[in-house]
Amino acid sequence: MTKEKIEDNRLGIRNMPAFPVGLITVGKGKEANIITAALIHVFSFDPPLIGIGISPKRHSHGLLTKEDEFVVNIPGKDILKETLGCGTVSGSKVDKFELHELKKLDSRVVETPSIEQCKVSLECKKTDMFTTGDHDWFIGEVVMTVADKGYKRGDGLLYWGGDFRLPGKVIKER
Ligand SMILES: Cc1cc2nc3c(=O)[nH]c(=O)nc-3n(C[C@H](O)[C@H](O)[C@H](O)COP(=O)(O)O)c2cc1C
Repeated sequence: MTKEKIEDNRLGIRNMPAFPVGLITVGKGKEANIITAALIHVFSFDPPLIGIGISPKRHSHGLLTKEDEFVVNIPGKDILKETLGCGTVSGSKVDKFELHELKKLDSRVVETPSIEQCKVSLECKKTDMFTTGDHDWFIGEVVMTVADKGYKRGDGLLYWGGDFRLPGKVIKER
């Protein structure tokens, strides 16, 4: 039996499975800011490169352009409210660390602070930047990863199309 299909390009991108969501920290000292980003992807294993897609409209975009490093912090469900909060107010108006009581954690290699409450922090040195449509991709080499002891990959939040999720059960090991 053939499956019934629908054609509706408005559903296309929004119907993708969920992506990891990160709290990106960028900037040093009093300038340090947090932006919630779901456009996160691995660009290379060797060297380990990760990219974040940031709209030029964001306050963080200016900081990412100026700075040569950033940190991708992965939140768990315990800070879902804060994750949404850092994606709805601009750091040009408020200090999001203070507003959401997110604690700055000294990063090990880079000068940009990490976030204590996050499960994993990937410290990145910026290697590249390019424009794709309405977002610019900032690529960074992961120079240090700091994780909660006992962290499992399934603990990190996913987001897309308006809903936050946790990864489901492993259904097959490759
Ligand atoms: C769950 C979620 C995911 C988001 N993903 C992105 C993203 O990938 N890229 C982006 O530019 N903005 C994204 N945003 C929007 C920014 O986080 C939001 O505009 C934020 O207030 C910008 O902060 P800033 O002005 O301090 O940089 C997302 C927002 C939410 C709530």
